[in-house]
Amino acid sequence: STTERVDLLLAQMTLAEKVGQTHQVANIHPDDDAALLAEGRIGSSLFASGATGGNERDEGVLASNIDAAQRHAIEGSRLGIPVLFGRDVIHGHRTVCPIPLGLAASFDEVLVEEVAALAAYEAVVDGVAWTFAPMVDLSEEPRWGRVAESLGETPVLSGRLAAAMVRGFQGADPSDPDRIAACAKHFAGYGLSAGGRDYDTVSVGENTLRNLHLRPFRTAVDAGVTTVMAAFNDVDGTPMHAHRHLLRDVLKGEWGFDGVVVADWNGIGQLIHQGVAADLREASQLAIEAGVDLDMCSGAYAAHLADLVESGEVAESLLDDAVRRVLTLKFRLGLFDRPYVGEPPRSNAPTEASRSTALRAAHASHVLVSNNGVLPLAADTGTVHLTGPYAEAAEELFGTWTLDGRGEDVVAPATAFRVRLGERLLVSDGRFSDRAVQQVRNADVTVAVVGEHPWRSGEANSVTDIGLPAGQLEHLRQLSRIGKPLVVVVYTGRPLELGDVMDLADAVLVVWHPGVEAGNALADIVFGDVAPHGRLPMTFPRTTGHIPTSTHQRPTGRLIELHEEGQQGRYLDDQVFPRLPFGYGLSYTSFEYGELRISGGSSPTLSGDAELVVEVDVTNTGERAGREVVQLSFRDPVAQVTRPLTELVDWAVLDLAPGEKGTATFTVRADQFAYFGRDNTLRVDAGEITLVAGPDALHGSRLSLTVAP
Ligand code: IFM
Repeated sequence: STTERVDLLLAQMTLAEKVGQTHQVANIHPDDDAALLAEGRIGSSLFASGATGGNERDEGVLASNIDAAQRHAIEGSRLGIPVLFGRDVIHGHRTVCPIPLGLAASFDEVLVEEVAALAAYEAVVDGVAWTFAPMVDLSEEPRWGRVAESLGETPVLSGRLAAAMVRGFQGADPSDPDRIAACAKHFAGYGLSAGGRDYDTVSVGENTLRNLHLRPFRTAVDAGVTTVMAAFNDVDGTPMHAHRHLLRDVLKGEWGFDGVVVADWNGIGQLIHQGVAADLREASQLAIEAGVDLDMCSGAYAAHLADLVESGEVAESLLDDAVRRVLTLKFRLGLFDRPYVGEPPRSNAPTEASRSTALRAAHASHVLVSNNGVLPLAADTGTVHLTGPYAEAAEELFGTWTLDGRGEDVVAPATAFRVRLGERLLVSDGRFSDRAVQQVRNADVTVAVVGEHPWRSGEANSVTDIGLPAGQLEHLRQLSRIGKPLVVVVYTGRPLELGDVMDLADAVLVVWHPGVEAGNALADIVFGDVAPHGRLPMTFPRTTGHIPTSTHQRPTGRLIELHEEGQQGRYLDDQVFPRLPFGYGLSYTSFEYGELRISGGSSPTLSGDAELVVEVDVTNTGERAGREVVQLSFRDPVAQVTRPLTELVDWAVLDLAPGEKGTATFTVRADQFAYFGRDNTLRVDAGEITLVAGPDALHGSRLSLTVAP
């Protein structure tokens, strides 16, 4: 068995070899690192930027570099332990798909699993055995650039899509040669970085952590994720790389996580900057005791763990446990049996099939947030004017964490529009200009593609203002002044302030950063071949000053309901409600909701493990087919602790023809309303729960049920 193989190996290892397994380096250079590889003193490598001395995007360089390093490790070392190669394969590898926040807008677990499986399939070609995804930090802070990499703001959506990604990356068994190990990151609380500044401190109590932020991690662990990454931030004064309670007691103890806890980049070294360790030696001790098994690139463990064990300051059993976890992962991945990059090499360039996945994912990520009927454009629309900085864009449409996509694989909006319109397309590309304003007059409709460059979101890219980048709004004003129909397409890695844009434009589409099929997806939606069906996975606040906003506001002494006007303790100068709530998104048709129904007679009661069936009829009242994402939320009006005013509990997708009535059916159980009480233990209370089924977090048809556990 794997346990026996691991024990056998561990028994033969020297202290230095054990420590080697806890040491991850950046970008191995086989020649430079030959001695360490031969001594078995590199356990893992993070190929962050590519390969030896060359253009990281040259096909085969990543694969051949990894393969060469692996041969040094296996053939040169005493025990022949393979190196584990990791890389940030976050939303596709060669075939770049929408950023995770865009994928989350799909509310589609099957599609998200397919995207992750595709990424794994392409990544193994390059020798990558492990990815640092999914990121499941709940994201309620649009100033924080990393929301682009997240799966949104709610535990249920984020958790279920994370589980889908884990299944996609790892398959039923990570030893499948086409799959890789996944990593749930960043444990925990990173989404609450103060002021939206990346890497900042986090002040949150354990109750809020447990009731919200830890939940998607738990779902990922239950889905079998093999690794978890510690977060850069502290939680209430204790840096996560030293957080023994959350890492060792909760994650490894209470949840039984038996995989690898990896540090974030230099996260152990940063304990010094965070002021809880005087030097790298002390930082190593704190981290290994807290439960960090693998040191990402700080070198702390390699330099100090052996000495700490020899001096008796760190129990060897802690090191053994870390090594056992790393070796178990390597066995589980099949690395001992198949360590080298596959022969003969297969291509991972985009194919018709991979492009189909990317296209469907991009379709599903597009969220229509306003439309006065201008969309979809009729096929025989006269002249279309396409303008804005992304009309002819390539790599700019990939989004954050794209290491292996290539610009030449991207279908730009102008390319896709030209295929449909030929001479009827006018493009005034690049920077907005007077020429662009002039062209508005020459066209029947203008489509302006605006928004954020991918470098404005992602890691370390926070902003103080979530308005459109400088100058774009003013230019949209000029375009709209001409009085011709204006469609605005927003590329973005975060929620933006869209109020003015929605006032100016006839329709607004939020399309995130969509990947290689960006142009085709946009054209399909704009011309109505595909009806938009994405839903916002994060709340869009009115202005930067309204942050934080999230669906999980808890009741105050003066705030009764989310949608009630005239709350005290709110703002004097603006409404408090978001511009666009979580879950919002339009289609090219309209839907009408019936009354929510529940099984269980006139006083429905949930007891024990019993289930009740909740149903709502939805009718397509428009003239086009459309997809509705019916969202079931709940509120627990009386509990031991303040509970969110609304929280997503489940969703159902209905595809409805014009005039068709469909039924969204949910089963509910008492444990879906469980929460952590004042003593931070999980409980289900007797009492009433309000259920709401609707098109977004703020609207819907409601009913009550009784829980009698
Ligand atoms: O995976 C990332 C992490 O999310 C942020 N720091 C670097 C890691 C490896 O590249």
